[in-house]
Amino acid sequence: FADGPLKGRHVVVTSGPTHEPLDPVRYIANRSSGRQGHAIAGALAALGARVTLVSGPVAIAPPPGVAIVAVETAADMLAAVEAALPADAAVCAAAVADFRPAERVTGKIKKIPGQPPAPIVLALNPDILATLSHHAARPGLVVGFAAETSNVIANAQDKLARKGCDWVVANDVSGDVMGGTENTVHLVTASGVEDWPRLPKAEVAARLAARIADALAK
Ligand code: C5P
Repeated sequence: FADGPLKGRHVVVTSGPTHEPLDPVRYIANRSSGRQGHAIAGALAALGARVTLVSGPVAIAPPPGVAIVAVETAADMLAAVEAALPADAAVCAAAVADFRPAERVTGKIKKIPGQPPAPIVLALNPDILATLSHHAARPGLVVGFAAETSNVIANAQDKLARKGCDWVVANDVSGDVMGGTENTVHLVTASGVEDWPRLPKAEVAARLAARIADALAK
């Protein structure tokens, strides 16, 4: 591990989308490149933390110095996160699918000529951030993300209360953030809101990692 203010600390980071299979060839997913979550994992490792990066399917490489746990579904992601505990902090940056097909069909669903397709019935996925925030082995600092296109701050404050986490990094995704290299975020905590300038995702990650180091030092 690198030397730094997070030496001896363990941080769990979720990143990427989850894939929720409908049958062996089809799935439901959210759009997520994993760039911001992976960058945060890398920045935490650079400050000396032991990082467990629990990631859904992404096309990017894990940052150096982090232990990667590759998962597919939200259920897998939750199990991997719980298995990684205890942790000093957790950052939930994954774009977890809120719903999964209620039934996972074993064989490929066939097109039947002249017949309309069967409807897809959805079931609710576990909320990993909320589960962690209320966990018996809750990390001392739990950070969530909020991707919003409007009422960014109000929605983030609502999320903070609803999920029970300590900080929400509110992400204004009304522009070209999804899949892009820059991000405009606001750090929402119980004590207020900080507006950060538009920054490269690596810089957002470095600032957030530094803030996490400060918080854990207190
Ligand atoms: O409720 P919403 O999806 O907008 O909240 C986003 C935050 O919650 C992110 O931090 C995301 O990683 C987390 N989340 C989660 N599990 C879910 C849904 C969201 O951890 N099933």
